Amino acid sequence: MAREGIQVKPARRAALRRALLAWYRVHHRKLPWRSARPDAYHVLVSEAMLQQTQVATVIAYYERFITAFPTVHDLAAADEQDVLRLWQGLGYYRRARHLHTAARAIVGQHGGTVPDDVESLLSLPGIGRYTAGAVASIAFGRRAPILDGNVARVLSRWFAIEGVIDDPAVRDELWRLAEELVPEESPGDFNQAMMELGATVCTPRSPLCLTCPVASMCRANELGIVDRLPTKRVKRKPTRVEYHAVAVERGGKFLFVQRPAKGLWAGMWQFPMAESLPPTGAVTGKVLQTWLKETHGITCASPRRVDELEHQTTHRTVGVTLWRASGKNTAKGGVWQSIDGAGELPVSRLQRRCAELVRGQ
Ligand code: ADE
Repeated sequence: MAREGIQVKPARRAALRRALLAWYRVHHRKLPWRSARPDAYHVLVSEAMLQQTQVATVIAYYERFITAFPTVHDLAAADEQDVLRLWQGLGYYRRARHLHTAARAIVGQHGGTVPDDVESLLSLPGIGRYTAGAVASIAFGRRAPILDGNVARVLSRWFAIEGVIDDPAVRDELWRLAEELVPEESPGDFNQAMMELGATVCTPRSPLCLTCPVASMCRANELGIVDRLPTKRVKRKPTRVEYHAVAVERGGKFLFVQRPAKGLWAGMWQFPMAESLPPTGAVTGKVLQTWLKETHGITCASPRRVDELEHQTTHRTVGVTLWRASGKNTAKGGVWQSIDGAGELPVSRLQRRCAELVRGQ
């Protein structure tokens, strides 16, 4: 449980803001979406990409995305498959679909102008408190707080909050502190400075307290407990699941089928993949041959096992056995693509790994 209602003295608040902003003005990274007058749509795209993903990974994706969809109108008019294709490899594809729907709502309901206040931003599909605060403060200079993993870590250390970091009461207290600290003047820089400090100095492991601009005001540093904070919930071991992916070939092309519109990797393409067959060992080529016929209408020779790989998603470890088979007929709802042509379809990182293994055979 958080210590309820941490009081920040006005002098400490002012000193924290001053030290952090001065540090940020000198040390911030030059990033393609950062500018003296940021474009709200660009900020929206970058913030959608930056959730759960590091800056270094995002840069190239962001640049390709903005080149393809330079304005919110371009994104709103785009085909979802094209949006997903540009997101391919970044993971958490729901973010791409949300961004796309938000762009459509901005064009349909706001005349193509990104709303400039937290409340209207929150009313857009898929935009939560974090993104609304980030866009309002960074693009429009609104005094709005943000809280992401980096900011939560920084605040938990500044105020020596020992409660479990994702406990709802602790989250509420962190949001309250973020709200209290964000200044009227330069709120966007302040919010980005908190994230930047978390990403580059106040890191999860081996934080660089010796170079930290606010070390002298950090309660965890004073108490010598920086390394222990934030307190993480003890994680359960990820569930392990076993999938069987079959590369069905016909005339030099491979069959790709589309996943359902909801759930993991929604709407993306893949080799036919059995996700609920008995554990490895019990699955034979014959079992998969029948499964392919029943689920995809494919007649093929008995698949042969070619490789195995392991893939980590947020909540599970996926063990994939990769099989290969010669197909005889066309399948329900699938497309036949050369193995290199798989790059034209939106596919997950796991499927790309499978395609690379098949290509390397
Ligand atoms: N993480 C998420 N948004 C960010 C931003 N604007 N700057 C740095 N890191 C971020």
